[in-house]
Amino acid sequence: MTKEPKSRWPGFFKLSVEERIGLLARHSGLGGAELTFLKDQEHLSRRTANHMIENCIGTFELPLGLAMNLRVDGVDRLVPLATEEPSVLAGLSKAARFLRRGAGITTTVTSPLMIGQVQILDVPDLGAARTRVLEARRALLEEANALDPRLVEVGGGAQDLEVRILPPEGDDDPVGTMFVVHLLVDVRDAMGANAVNTMAEQLAPRLEELTGGRVRLRILSNLADRRLVTARARVPVDLLASNGASGTGPDVALGIQEASVFAERDPYRAATHNKGIMNGIDGVLIALGQDWRAVESGAHAYAARSGRYRALSSWRARGDVLHGELELPLAVGTVGGIVDSHPAVRAGLAILGIKTAAELASIAAAVGLAQNLAALRALATEGIQRGHMRLHVRKVGLSAGATEEELPALIEELQRLGRADLDTARSVLASLRQGGA
Ligand code: HMG
Repeated sequence: MTKEPKSRWPGFFKLSVEERIGLLARHSGLGGAELTFLKDQEHLSRRTANHMIENCIGTFELPLGLAMNLRVDGVDRLVPLATEEPSVLAGLSKAARFLRRGAGITTTVTSPLMIGQVQILDVPDLGAARTRVLEARRALLEEANALDPRLVEVGGGAQDLEVRILPPEGDDDPVGTMFVVHLLVDVRDAMGANAVNTMAEQLAPRLEELTGGRVRLRILSNLADRRLVTARARVPVDLLASNGASGTGPDVALGIQEASVFAERDPYRAATHNKGIMNGIDGVLIALGQDWRAVESGAHAYAARSGRYRALSSWRARGDVLHGELELPLAVGTVGGIVDSHPAVRAGLAILGIKTAAELASIAAAVGLAQNLAALRALATEGIQRGHMRLHVRKVGLSAGATEEELPALIEELQRLGRADLDTARSVLASLRQGGA
């Protein structure tokens, strides 16, 4: 295989796990502790695990892979991804190979603003309460920021307050009008849940005084729609037909556009389309120790923001270029949480070569867009099962003892027979070695 630095190492998947780690070590500048983790599989210790959760009885593992070929905002990235699902890494790496030919994926990231909600009930005069809360904005923000001087020091902190009035929905709604305060907090490189929850809880008594109401919930919102990432990509359509996909490049691009519009129109298709996007994003988030449930719920709530659940991404064929775009909230952190305590997360950040939450959000969104392209291209051409089957047959062929040179003929024969079991692979291999099929 050709050895190249950066994220483009053709045939990486054909190496053994040890060879992959060796290559990574030589070319990524990975340091001692991270390398030890990968080489020796020095797992999360029971002691650390026991400090993370309650009633701990052990740890749970997933395969960790590397997504190849990704170029995000002009920088090559090797992306660690944890998943149990076959074909995610292969599809993603393949799509990233197309995308890098069209200048890669570019992203924009908004400020890392999280929302803390304070629910207030039984407010006697909603209009007067709103005026009093907004007039006290400066003092309330100062009170919130006094709780987290370190966050303010690094450029973050509570930035603003908003009031929302939620009337009852119909005659049988058991709860009267709610007065909801949104506290907007710039959480910098943290995911932000702790900082936001602490601030929301701190402001509650003062908000009760100002509104004359009764506070109930004080908690962040996972619909982090002030913390958005947009990933964009352009693929020359001619590339899409390569490697035996049915149809010419423009046909395939048209198929991807039709698949995209299906998901934009129909919630049944949008749910599956978005699941494909999250296949990639969740894998990155898990590998990097992020709260993927928070991102999942935010992504799906954002997909339904118009009142109807829709696709998070869209693809359009214009002339000889296919354009893709994905936008979603991504509340991730590179400080706090388990970032400092989990060896796999430290190794993951070192492999990515990043420090900030914004960089992590950009890479996760780029992975989501590339993963989406992989799935749509397969769905719009040969279908998803053929690729799955090729990967499976390849694994069976290797288990049967085939060399890289013997694999193509063995795979072809197994596919012709419609068989993918080990016994058949062994007997076909034996027959190939004797000169027959
Ligand atoms: P292929 O044409 O056999 O691949 O495709 P190739 O031999 O031409 O190799 C091209 C590149 O693909 C390689 O290039 C690798 O990057 C990668 P290189 O970088 O080496 O120069 N690649 C692999 N990487 C790792 N391990 C492998 C491997 N094989 C190729 N074994 C492939 C085979 C599976 C990639 C193709 O059929 C494909 O893209 N299928 C789609 C897979 C996919 O998207 N899976 C996602 C999970 S399913 C899902 O998302 C749910 C869904 O419901 C979502 C939705 O409905 O929208 C579908």
